[in-house]
Amino acid sequence: VCIRQATVDDLLAMQNCNLLCLPENYQMKYYLYHILSWPQLLYVAEDYNKKIVGYVLAKMEEESTICHGHITSLAVLRTHRKLGLATKLMNAAQRAMQEVFGAEYVSLHVRKSNRAAFHLYTETLGYKISDIEAKYYADGEDAFDMQKELKPKE
Ligand code: ACO
Repeated sequence: VCIRQATVDDLLAMQNCNLLCLPENYQMKYYLYHILSWPQLLYVAEDYNKKIVGYVLAKMEEESTICHGHITSLAVLRTHRKLGLATKLMNAAQRAMQEVFGAEYVSLHVRKSNRAAFHLYTETLGYKISDIEAKYYADGEDAFDMQKELKPKE
Protein backbone atom coordinates (compact mmCIF):
# COMPACT_ATOMS: atom_id res chain seq x y z
CA VAL A 1 0.00 0.00 0.00
CA CYS A 2 1.34 3.44 -0.89
CA ILE A 3 0.39 6.89 0.38
CA ARG A 4 0.28 9.60 -2.28
CA GLN A 5 -1.30 12.98 -2.92
CA ALA A 6 -4.83 12.65 -4.33
CA THR A 7 -5.82 13.84 -7.81
CA VAL A 8 -9.24 14.78 -9.16
CA ASP A 9 -9.47 11.24 -10.58
CA ASP A 10 -9.40 9.83 -7.03
CA LEU A 11 -12.34 11.83 -5.68
CA LEU A 12 -15.08 9.29 -6.52
CA ALA A 13 -13.11 6.50 -4.85
CA MET A 14 -12.53 8.73 -1.82
CA GLN A 15 -16.24 9.50 -1.63
CA ASN A 16 -17.00 5.79 -1.88
CA CYS A 17 -14.57 4.97 0.92
CA ASN A 18 -16.19 7.71 3.04
CA LEU A 19 -19.68 6.26 2.38
CA LEU A 20 -18.50 2.80 3.48
CA CYS A 21 -16.79 4.04 6.66
CA LEU A 22 -18.59 7.07 8.13
CA PRO A 23 -22.07 8.51 8.62
CA GLU A 24 -20.77 12.02 7.80
CA ASN A 25 -20.96 12.18 4.00
CA TYR A 26 -20.36 15.00 1.55
CA GLN A 27 -21.46 15.98 -1.92
CA MET A 28 -18.88 15.75 -4.71
CA LYS A 29 -18.71 19.55 -4.86
CA TYR A 30 -17.28 19.57 -1.30
CA TYR A 31 -14.46 17.20 -2.34
CA LEU A 32 -13.86 19.39 -5.40
CA TYR A 33 -13.77 22.51 -3.22
CA HIS A 34 -11.04 20.90 -1.09
CA ILE A 35 -8.87 19.70 -3.97
CA LEU A 36 -9.16 22.95 -5.93
CA SER A 37 -8.38 25.07 -2.86
CA TRP A 38 -5.72 22.97 -1.06
CA PRO A 39 -4.54 20.20 -3.43
CA GLN A 40 -1.55 19.49 -1.14
CA LEU A 41 -3.86 18.46 1.72
CA LEU A 42 -5.63 15.43 0.20
CA TYR A 43 -3.93 12.04 0.37
CA VAL A 44 -4.99 8.51 -0.50
CA ALA A 45 -3.76 5.05 0.44
CA GLU A 46 -3.66 2.89 -2.69
CA ASP A 47 -3.13 -0.88 -2.70
CA TYR A 48 -1.14 -2.88 -5.26
CA ASN A 49 -4.31 -3.25 -7.42
CA LYS A 50 -4.63 0.56 -7.56
CA LYS A 51 -7.65 0.38 -5.27
CA ILE A 52 -8.17 3.33 -2.90
CA VAL A 53 -8.32 1.88 0.63
CA GLY A 54 -8.07 5.07 2.68
CA TYR A 55 -8.04 8.86 2.44
CA VAL A 56 -7.60 12.06 4.35
CA LEU A 57 -9.48 15.21 3.33
CA ALA A 58 -8.13 18.37 4.94
CA LYS A 59 -8.32 22.14 4.56
CA MET A 60 -6.97 25.43 5.85
CA GLU A 61 -9.13 27.65 8.06
CA GLU A 62 -8.71 31.06 6.49
CA GLU A 63 -11.19 33.23 8.40
CA SER A 64 -9.41 32.47 11.64
CA THR A 65 -6.79 34.86 13.09
CA ILE A 66 -4.24 32.09 13.74
CA CYS A 67 -3.36 30.20 10.56
CA HIS A 68 -4.35 26.57 11.08
CA GLY A 69 -5.38 23.44 9.29
CA HIS A 70 -8.45 21.27 9.83
CA ILE A 71 -8.96 17.57 9.16
CA THR A 72 -12.37 17.36 7.49
CA SER A 73 -12.48 13.57 7.17
CA LEU A 74 -10.28 10.48 7.54
CA ALA A 75 -11.11 6.83 6.90
CA VAL A 76 -9.47 3.51 6.08
CA LEU A 77 -11.42 0.53 4.75
CA ARG A 78 -12.08 -2.17 7.37
CA THR A 79 -9.94 -4.68 5.41
CA HIS A 80 -6.89 -2.41 5.73
CA ARG A 81 -7.11 -1.13 9.30
CA LYS A 82 -4.40 -1.43 12.00
CA LEU A 83 -1.62 -1.29 9.43
CA GLY A 84 -0.59 2.26 10.25
CA LEU A 85 -2.27 3.76 7.17
CA ALA A 86 -4.33 6.38 9.03
CA THR A 87 -1.19 7.46 10.90
CA LYS A 88 0.68 7.90 7.59
CA LEU A 89 -2.22 9.78 5.93
CA MET A 90 -2.50 12.14 8.91
CA ASN A 91 1.25 12.76 9.05
CA ALA A 92 1.31 13.60 5.32
CA ALA A 93 -1.54 16.13 5.63
CA GLN A 94 -0.13 17.70 8.81
CA ARG A 95 3.33 18.08 7.25
CA ALA A 96 1.88 19.84 4.19
CA MET A 97 -0.25 22.19 6.32
CA GLN A 98 2.86 23.28 8.11
CA GLU A 99 5.33 23.36 5.22
CA VAL A 100 3.08 24.67 2.42
CA PHE A 101 0.67 26.90 4.34
CA GLY A 102 2.53 27.72 7.56
CA ALA A 103 -0.14 26.28 9.85
CA GLU A 104 0.55 26.75 13.56
CA TYR A 105 -1.80 24.00 14.63
CA VAL A 106 -4.29 21.48 13.27
CA SER A 107 -7.81 20.83 14.54
CA LEU A 108 -10.48 18.16 14.07
CA HIS A 109 -13.76 16.84 15.48
CA VAL A 110 -14.28 13.26 16.58
CA ARG A 111 -17.26 11.46 18.11
CA LYS A 112 -16.93 10.86 21.84
CA SER A 113 -17.69 7.16 21.25
CA ASN A 114 -15.11 6.66 18.46
CA ARG A 115 -12.46 4.78 20.45
CA ALA A 116 -10.26 3.78 17.51
CA ALA A 117 -10.01 7.32 16.15
CA PHE A 118 -9.63 8.82 19.64
CA HIS A 119 -6.73 6.44 20.32
CA LEU A 120 -5.09 7.36 17.01
CA TYR A 121 -5.40 11.11 17.70
CA THR A 122 -4.37 11.14 21.37
CA GLU A 123 -1.90 8.28 21.72
CA THR A 124 -0.32 8.03 18.28
CA LEU A 125 -0.51 11.60 16.98
CA GLY A 126 -0.46 13.74 20.15
CA TYR A 127 -3.73 15.67 19.82
CA LYS A 128 -5.32 17.20 22.96
CA ILE A 129 -9.00 17.83 23.68
CA SER A 130 -9.59 21.59 23.40
CA ASP A 131 -13.38 21.64 23.81
CA ILE A 132 -16.52 19.53 23.77
CA GLU A 133 -19.19 20.48 21.25
CA ALA A 134 -22.55 19.28 22.53
CA LYS A 135 -24.77 17.57 19.95
CA TYR A 136 -22.30 18.35 17.14
CA TYR A 137 -23.41 15.37 15.05
CA ALA A 138 -26.76 15.00 13.27
CA ASP A 139 -27.77 12.10 15.57
CA GLY A 140 -27.15 14.20 18.70
CA GLU A 141 -23.76 12.78 19.73
CA ASP A 142 -21.19 15.17 21.23
CA ALA A 143 -17.84 15.85 19.56
CA PHE A 144 -14.41 16.29 21.06
CA ASP A 145 -12.84 19.35 19.45
CA MET A 146 -9.17 18.33 19.28
CA GLN A 147 -6.01 20.23 18.43
CA LYS A 148 -2.34 19.54 17.90
CA GLU A 149 0.40 22.13 17.72
CA LEU A 150 2.61 21.98 14.61
CA LYS A 151 6.22 22.76 15.44
CA PRO A 152 7.98 25.14 13.07
CA LYS A 153 10.87 23.54 11.15
CA GLU A 154 14.26 23.78 12.89
N1 ACO B 1 -9.16 0.23 18.94
C1 ACO B 1 -8.09 0.71 19.62
N2 ACO B 1 -7.02 1.26 19.00
C2 ACO B 1 -7.03 1.30 17.66
C3 ACO B 1 -8.10 0.80 16.90
C4 ACO B 1 -9.18 0.23 17.60
N3 ACO B 1 -10.23 -0.28 16.94
N4 ACO B 1 -7.82 1.01 15.58
C5 ACO B 1 -6.61 1.57 15.53
N5 ACO B 1 -6.14 1.75 16.77
C6 ACO B 1 -4.85 2.29 17.15
C7 ACO B 1 -3.74 1.45 16.56
O1 ACO B 1 -3.46 0.34 17.39
C8 ACO B 1 -2.61 2.43 16.50
O2 ACO B 1 -2.03 2.58 17.78
P1 ACO B 1 -0.43 2.54 17.98
O3 ACO B 1 0.10 3.74 17.20
O4 ACO B 1 -0.32 2.66 19.46
O5 ACO B 1 0.00 1.23 17.39
C9 ACO B 1 -3.32 3.75 16.18
O6 ACO B 1 -4.68 3.57 16.58
C10 ACO B 1 -3.26 4.12 14.73
O7 ACO B 1 -3.63 3.02 13.93
P2 ACO B 1 -3.61 3.05 12.34
O8 ACO B 1 -3.31 1.68 11.86
O9 ACO B 1 -2.77 4.17 11.84
O10 ACO B 1 -5.15 3.40 12.08
P3 ACO B 1 -6.07 2.72 10.94
O11 ACO B 1 -5.37 2.79 9.63
O12 ACO B 1 -6.56 1.44 11.43
O13 ACO B 1 -7.29 3.78 10.89
C11 ACO B 1 -9.30 4.84 11.64
C12 ACO B 1 -7.91 4.30 12.06
C13 ACO B 1 -9.13 5.91 10.55
C14 ACO B 1 -9.94 5.51 12.86
C15 ACO B 1 -10.15 3.66 11.12
O14 ACO B 1 -10.46 2.81 12.21
C16 ACO B 1 -11.43 4.06 10.42
O15 ACO B 1 -11.46 4.35 9.23
N6 ACO B 1 -12.55 4.12 11.19
C17 ACO B 1 -13.86 4.49 10.65
C18 ACO B 1 -13.89 5.92 10.18
C19 ACO B 1 -13.48 6.90 11.28
O16 ACO B 1 -13.82 6.74 12.44
N7 ACO B 1 -12.74 7.96 10.89
C20 ACO B 1 -12.32 9.04 11.81
C21 ACO B 1 -13.46 9.96 12.08
S1 ACO B 1 -12.95 11.55 12.78
C22 ACO B 1 -12.52 12.50 11.40
O17 ACO B 1 -12.75 12.10 10.29
C23 ACO B 1 -11.86 13.85 11.63
